[in-house]
Amino acid sequence: MSLKEKINPSKLPQHIAIIMDGNGRWAKQKGAERIYGHENGVISVRETVEAAAEIGIKYLTLYAFSTENWNRPQEEVMALMQLLVHTINAETPTLNKNNIRLMAIGNLKSLPGDCYAELQEAIEKTKNNSRTTLVLALSYSSRWEITNAIKQIAEQVENKTLSAAEINENTITSHLCTADIPEPELMIRTSGEHRISNFLLWQLAYAELYFTETLWPDFRKENLYQAIVDYQNRERRFGKTSEQLIS
Ligand code: IPE
Ligand code: IPE
Ligand code: MG
Repeated sequence: MSLKEKINPSKLPQHIAIIMDGNGRWAKQKGAERIYGHENGVISVRETVEAAAEIGIKYLTLYAFSTENWNRPQEEVMALMQLLVHTINAETPTLNKNNIRLMAIGNLKSLPGDCYAELQEAIEKTKNNSRTTLVLALSYSSRWEITNAIKQIAEQVENKTLSAAEINENTITSHLCTADIPEPELMIRTSGEHRISNFLLWQLAYAELYFTETLWPDFRKENLYQAIVDYQNRERRFGKTSEQLIS
């Protein structure tokens, strides 16, 4: 029996965020270069996006490249950027066929020109799709995002369109890259690492965290179903007691 049948359709998370980790180790295990792991990771992306759309997940955010990843060897950074351009270009028709909208969060202007252009084109071409929104986190880090939000808010205070007393949680949420996206209820990280690595720090405040040993290039639809089933068996208390939730 597929784990898909164990998923309760009335208790689906609206938004799943994934730290796709372990490509390098996967390749190393096979005696190959790290980029071979990234290339195979694309297959996992395709499978995961398809599975999420099929079961009715409205938002899927994939951490594809962090601000800190710019510090990797130049050769790997360039290869990743090329892979990104190529993949976005090749996958846009499939996104349209499956009614999936593409979005991106992060310091997109820091991407190489061809990459940025390809990304904007795919976003434009898929903007009217409505089944699922795929959010790529590219050149993204949460501290960068929060710093930016604070700068924008400070400017409004400076030019007196906002008073400090008026600032509340919504002010901050609405200045993040994810302003129009609901918070993820479930965050998955592959490869056995138990950390957040500067991903959606504000947005994950009450997310359920799911860690799996599976390396990203081995991640398939069943792995996603498994994470969702696990999520559905948890009790989300939001600071309350168990008894309060039952009554
Ligand atoms: C995740 O896999 C992909 C990116 C960070 C771009 P890694 O490249 O981090 O693989 P490991 O963690 O070194 O195995
Ligand atoms: C996090 O993975 C970033 C992405 C998956 C894009 P890393 O492999 O870069 O994170 P660390 O270095 O293990 O924390
Ligand atoms: Mg890693």
